[in-house]
Amino acid sequence: MSANVAIPSDMVEAIRDARHLCVLTGAGISAESGVPTFRDAHTGLWSQYRPQDLATADAFLRDPELVWRWYHWRQNLIAKAEPNPAHLALARLEAMVPRLTLITQNVDGLHQRAGSTEVTEFHGNIFVNRCFIEGLEIECDKDTAVPTCPACGGLARPGVVWFGETIPEVALDTALTAARDCDFFLSIGTSSLVYPAAGLADLAREAGAVVAEINSQTTDLACSYNFAIQAQAGVALPALVNSLLGHRAAL
Ligand code: APR
Repeated sequence: MSANVAIPSDMVEAIRDARHLCVLTGAGISAESGVPTFRDAHTGLWSQYRPQDLATADAFLRDPELVWRWYHWRQNLIAKAEPNPAHLALARLEAMVPRLTLITQNVDGLHQRAGSTEVTEFHGNIFVNRCFIEGLEIECDKDTAVPTCPACGGLARPGVVWFGETIPEVALDTALTAARDCDFFLSIGTSSLVYPAAGLADLAREAGAVVAEINSQTTDLACSYNFAIQAQAGVALPALVNSLLGHRAAL
């Protein structure tokens, strides 16, 4: 993978002139922080499981201890991770455009730790726990194998959105509004396989926005974007920020 990448000048200009930039991120933006993506082969303990078979309410009710073991493993791994240059560049970009709405499918909180302020967690946050019955956010003893709700004594669950569950209403409304209002939509590090997040780019395009993707691989949607940058996010986003700064200096 090249250590640098050229961002097309017309893409830089379109972002520079954007009134509202909407960014959607997926697991790929945290990959360089050491957080495994969902559809890269899982290594070690979890290689025999697919996330799709663990991140569901049915799987949780079938074996809450197994699902909690997976989430505890992920929480410990993410707690040791640091924001990478991609997260930091996005946080910097927020101060360089009139408005940047950041929608993340990630539950790791790394955007906030990198300094991004307007972050919409489309799939929740792995460090939040909720009562399985009431859905309310709760504080519970994180060291027990299967935490319980202090209010009702029932099961506590990770505060993330599982397959088959609905996106939190405020997060969905924010994302749909931003996708329809923005004039530049940038998708970063997502396989664009899971809806409704995967449909935001189309919404933005239909509303007249320029649509771009940064991904280390080519995706099925690459040909439908105005720009498709095949590069690691930790290389492409700093290059984009530098190009914008250079553009400014040249003006
Ligand atoms: N830079 C840019 N892109 C990367 C990098 C990187 N360093 N590493 C991996 N990628 C890309 C992969 O090519 C892939 O397209 O990131 C994408 C990761 O895809 P997934 O693992 O499917 O993750 P994501 O798109 O976020 O999944 C969406 O599915 O499992 C559910 O709820 C889960 O939020 C998740 C959703």
